[in-house]
Amino acid sequence: MNPLNHVAIIMDGNGRWGLKYKNSRNAGHKAGLNTVEKIIKETIKNKIKYLTLFAFSTENWKRPKKEINYLFTLLENFLTNRINDLHKQNIKLKILGSKKFSPKLNKLLYFSEKKTSKNDKLQINLAINYGSKSELIDAFKKIKKNQSTITEKNLSKNLQTKNIPDPDILIRTGNTKRLSNFLLWQIAYAEIFFEKKLWPAFSEKDYNKIIKEYQNIKRNFGKI
Ligand code: IPE
Ligand code: IPE
Ligand code: MG
Repeated sequence: MNPLNHVAIIMDGNGRWGLKYKNSRNAGHKAGLNTVEKIIKETIKNKIKYLTLFAFSTENWKRPKKEINYLFTLLENFLTNRINDLHKQNIKLKILGSKKFSPKLNKLLYFSEKKTSKNDKLQINLAINYGSKSELIDAFKKIKKNQSTITEKNLSKNLQTKNIPDPDILIRTGNTKRLSNFLLWQIAYAEIFFEKKLWPAFSEKDYNKIIKEYQNIKRNFGKI
């Protein structure tokens, strides 16, 4: 059975789900938050140490202002209401991506990270305003500035994911087979699962099915 330390998820399909069932994309984002809660619980049950959730990409700024505002209000409310409970559950929150939001949200993000920084049951990496290409460029710039050599180890150490093991599993819901600028370096050897269901419809059962399938994969890492 393969060890499982890290699951990364591209939570796609909220908009389509919302339009289909509630005639509103934003309603889909709201429903998607329930799936987030369910998957966090199930991740703990499965004793997985790292869960990375892609919530907003550097490209998502191209969306209508109204939708962007709604998403960040959702996030703000979620953190305000839930951070104490996450902390009590010994969950550590880490933000991936650059924190260039409203002063209020920036503050809340820093506060949430600091408050939970010593926790060690589960680390949730929330990728917001995250793009893998800009993360890589920043890493190369840092290496250049420090006049150190470009090696795999050095590059990994200069990414925002330093100290986080690479994902074992990458899941993308929403019936689309692409990576959309997510963790391009880190998923070099991840087992990838493209899931047809839209994120709000993704269940614990679907999640556990993927985990089970993963456990039986022969992971070669180049060997035979
Ligand atoms: C993913 O769902 C969530 C975000 C990108 C914020 P989408 O909003 O992309 O949903 P679809 O793909 O349009 O259905
Ligand atoms: C990827 O979904 C980003 C997140 C889930 C946050 P998108 O819906 O933005 O991806 P594209 O634009 O369809 O590739
Ligand atoms: Mg989408």
